[in-house]
Amino acid sequence: MTTKAVIFDVDGVLVRTDAMHERAWRALAEREGLPFPDGLPDKLRGVSRERSLELLLGSANDRYTNEQRVELMHYKNELFLAEVRAMTPADVLPGVRELIAELKNAGIKLAAASASRNARRGLDRTDLASSLDAIIDGNDAPLAKPNPQCFLLTAQALGVAPTNCMVVEDAPAGVDAAINAGMVVVGVGPCESDPRVAVGAPSLVEISAQALGWPSRL
Ligand code: BG6
Ligand code: MG
Repeated sequence: MTTKAVIFDVDGVLVRTDAMHERAWRALAEREGLPFPDGLPDKLRGVSRERSLELLLGSANDRYTNEQRVELMHYKNELFLAEVRAMTPADVLPGVRELIAELKNAGIKLAAASASRNARRGLDRTDLASSLDAIIDGNDAPLAKPNPQCFLLTAQALGVAPTNCMVVEDAPAGVDAAINAGMVVVGVGPCESDPRVAVGAPSLVEISAQALGWPSRL
């Protein structure tokens, strides 16, 4: 298989917005007097705003009306956006700019695909958007990961067949989505040791185009 494009997840892969999502959910939990167990942050990675709220509420789901849930998500989103508005190029995660430069030199198409409806804002604030050939966010792809929609739409936007795309993910739901799209996956952070990934590493610092065996191995 020839890989012609690399599709990066955004939150926790390209930019530090994973920590911002977590802080905002944590603040909402505190406001509501809800527990925020240690394992929850990783479960919230990559899943939609609505599903995140369900996971946070757990058995308390029944205590809230639909209107109240909308308000809870609005509160969380406003906290998150306040952090996004303060983002600078320093919020790009380590290793990202180097890998993007190497892949560009190798003639690989580059894109971002995110479940977040706010993904473009972070990419604009950090100047990463201008390095990418396509960006698909949660507005473009309403079917959240693990549905493969965002990755398939990204491949289409790039004009590359799904089987010629490689995805970089930090979330199990994202790994599922990429595999459902027929794409090879590189796992970082919590997905480093996921048995389904072709290559795993703690972060993109450890992943170079050469380490991926570019272009012949994947
Ligand atoms: C994903 C994040 O990229 O987007 C999740 O990993 C987040 O944490 C999801 O919940 C939806 O984001 P948003 O900004 O549309 O609420
Ligand atoms: Mg992510």
